[in-house]
Amino acid sequence: MRLCVFVSGRGSNLQAILESELLKGKVRVELVVSDKPECKAFEIAQKHKINYVSVREIEKSGFVTYDQLRARLEKEEIDLIILAGFLKKIPEQMSKRYEGKIINIHPALLPFFGGQGMYGMNVHTAVFNSGMKISGATVHFVNTEYDRGMIIAQKAADISDAASPEEIAEKVLKIEHTLLPEVIHSMADNRVQIVNNRVYIIKNSN
Ligand code: GAR
Repeated sequence: MRLCVFVSGRGSNLQAILESELLKGKVRVELVVSDKPECKAFEIAQKHKINYVSVREIEKSGFVTYDQLRARLEKEEIDLIILAGFLKKIPEQMSKRYEGKIINIHPALLPFFGGQGMYGMNVHTAVFNSGMKISGATVHFVNTEYDRGMIIAQKAADISDAASPEEIAEKVLKIEHTLLPEVIHSMADNRVQIVNNRVYIIKNSN
């Protein structure tokens, strides 16, 4: 399975995908895309000899537009797009073209603590301030609305003893690094099915 990973910053989820034993021999990251050319994730791509490109809505030197990117994804025969900390909204044309083939990881248990502006530490601060005793990570399909596509998988963390949003972030990130490769693995095996607007992952028989 040929993957394209979209990032905006640190790239620890990209790294988790690249280093996942579960995914070895099953998937290949063909391209890394970012809206921020200076991001750390590009250094990770470089280290792994993966092509990377910066994207922008409006033409600017050093960036490709979403139309150019779409053409490139077609050419590279990308099967699955993964938003791993990509903070911009995917234009409608692209999310429609790749319907069922774009997934996002969100650092909370959706449908709570999602939507516009809810990313990174904003999410963990909102969770902390809410007094919730659990948080976690969600992987979901991407549609035209922020964080509203069908939920594929979730894992929860006990945060009852968390003393700060940073502590929640640390716990949740650990979960993200296993949950995302697991979902990609299930998708590569064709074990993700939608029945009556609900997503099911068929258990791996191996
Ligand atoms: C991750 O925690 C991811 O869930 C979050 O950004 C972080 C990126 O970290 N995404 C969102 O908040 C999207 N709404 P990373 O660059 O180290 O993978």
